[in-house]
Amino acid sequence: MNKKPYYITTPIYYPNSNLHLGHTYTTIVADTLKRYKKIQGYDAYFVTGTDEHGQKIQEAAQEAGKSPLEFTDGIVKTIKDLWKTLEIDYDEFVRSSDKKHEENVQEIFQKLYDKGEIYKGVYEGFYCTPCESFWTESQLDENGKCPDCHREVHKQTEESYFFKLSKYTEKIRQYYEDHPEFLLPEGSRKEMITNFLDKGLDDLSVTRTSFDWGVKVPFDDKHVVYVWIDALSCYLTGIGYGEDQEKFNHYWPAGIHLMSKEIVRFHTIIWPAMLMALDLELPKQVFAHGWILFGENATKMSKSLGNIVYAEPIIELYGIDALKYFVLREFTFGQDGSFTNEKLLQRLNFDLANDLGNLVSRTVAMVEKYNDGIVENTNVNEEIDESLKEVAVNAIENLEKHMDKLAFSYALEDIWTLVRRTNKYIDETMPWVLIKENKERLNTVLYNLIESIRIINQLLEPFLPHTVKKIEEQIGIENLGWDSAREFGLYPNGTKVEKKENLFQRLDIEKELVILGEKNQALVVQRVGKKEEVQEVEELATKPEITIEDFEKIDLKVGTVLEVSDHPKADKLFVLQVKVGPETRQVVSGIKKWYKPEDLVGKKVIVLTNLKPVKLRGVLSQGMLLAADKGEDLTMLSVLNDIEDGADIS
Ligand code: MSP
Repeated sequence: MNKKPYYITTPIYYPNSNLHLGHTYTTIVADTLKRYKKIQGYDAYFVTGTDEHGQKIQEAAQEAGKSPLEFTDGIVKTIKDLWKTLEIDYDEFVRSSDKKHEENVQEIFQKLYDKGEIYKGVYEGFYCTPCESFWTESQLDENGKCPDCHREVHKQTEESYFFKLSKYTEKIRQYYEDHPEFLLPEGSRKEMITNFLDKGLDDLSVTRTSFDWGVKVPFDDKHVVYVWIDALSCYLTGIGYGEDQEKFNHYWPAGIHLMSKEIVRFHTIIWPAMLMALDLELPKQVFAHGWILFGENATKMSKSLGNIVYAEPIIELYGIDALKYFVLREFTFGQDGSFTNEKLLQRLNFDLANDLGNLVSRTVAMVEKYNDGIVENTNVNEEIDESLKEVAVNAIENLEKHMDKLAFSYALEDIWTLVRRTNKYIDETMPWVLIKENKERLNTVLYNLIESIRIINQLLEPFLPHTVKKIEEQIGIENLGWDSAREFGLYPNGTKVEKKENLFQRLDIEKELVILGEKNQALVVQRVGKKEEVQEVEELATKPEITIEDFEKIDLKVGTVLEVSDHPKADKLFVLQVKVGPETRQVVSGIKKWYKPEDLVGKKVIVLTNLKPVKLRGVLSQGMLLAADKGEDLTMLSVLNDIEDGADIS
């Protein structure tokens, strides 16, 4: 363990579905980063895993008619199979249901309690089951829904233990200030400061009593530990916490936690506060990448929207390297990017088959044809060679600078700058003319081409390992080590090359669009059923059954819209005056996208009248108007026949 450690994590994924390309993205990045850091001489260690506890998984298991563990066992297997298919080189896969991990969570909880960081109280607030997040009323979105995923939240009042998160507000802010590289990209950092730290943190409810699929609080087994405390602790378990202190001390603090932006809050507010409370060092960096968006409306790829793309069909049809190249090259790390099959296929054709594939096959074929496959440097140099050599030896430095910033896409672009420069060198030197006129010069040109390919292949090593192997077979030598890319002329003179199959096939895009589309859709149907079914299952899964008594708590009435005006501070909201029997209610509603004021005035609507009044962006709302929505469509609910306003709905 003499090498410098670099500990990398992906999120600890929920095992409630098969993982899609969005999840695969983070894992491919983590794997590539590990390969890169190893090549750079680090002792890189990579942990991933599954976040198996919590209400969401318990409900999903119930729906599948299985015990939670039987349910997660099945899905964990599919996740591990996927990582195998993608040749993900992780060092540890932590299941939060592992006994050792559960013991760690209990020990951590006990420690925090003993240190006075956790106290008992009563929780009153709103819970979003899909996000496993607690919110206070003021944090809800303008429609009173989860501010993260905008789905229904449930009001909850229960006895709970609280973590004294509020006392860490300024400490965390200070940490951000002292460590500007802690949270990247900059946008995420600003968001955490304005949306959370500036508002002041509330203490965090860290136990639940309404379900039992979780780690029991060691001194009060009515309570289970909040899933996020449990899941974040997997990062400690993954490197031997509570078991192998030496290993733990070696790898902690983490070099980087990778994830997409929606879970940054947990990693850069809750997690640092927990670690401070435990007297542990904070991770060196948290990097939030963007979302892979999908489809015409560029929405986040997610199971509930039924717009999933799986990695498996892409790998089966075009290979792992093609998928890796695409996701690393196409999306600027840190920003959202939209996925389409067209873009994928075009990149495969242009960048991989044309630029790289052709360069290798043309060059090797010329060496075979013009010099019996032997690469001979005759040193008949011309000025033009210098510009090729310059681009070749500079590529590594540019790439390293980009990789320091995790700019994967730019790092690959640095390699492709050399690929394209080398292709241009073929056009400039015209070996097919040289064979007739100047065999000596031709051999130097062919040497320069092969040497350039050697450097390209060296630089490709952390990104496309299969392609690297194939190029090595064709150019007759194995890569000579990372630093060899800094020097031009290391390819051993007299080596024999051998033409093999093309690295990448050129694809008929129209034809492939059909094949790939069908394969993916078949998998979606096999795994989650048809789109519509998926949505229904998801909706149902988020709402527990209620009794008639529960329903009777809801006071719905017919109302007449008297007046509609724009909300002074929110573009999406209307402020409506609605007559409900003898009284007139002011209701703020997010329906502006679908209606003009004149469509609504005089219309009968359905009003939830006993919803606790709230201020939405400063304007009082005394109720809620009911509407039906599906995808992008929305319609207000009304009555079939005219009836006086104030009429009860039961
Ligand atoms: N269980 C929590 C994480 C706990 S970490 C201590 C969780 N799991 S998850 O299964 O929902 O995975 C979320 C992660 O999946 C994101 O942070 C991101 O890494 C990846 N992605 C899921 N959908 C994505 C996109 N559409 N685009 C990019 N990545 C996204 O949250």
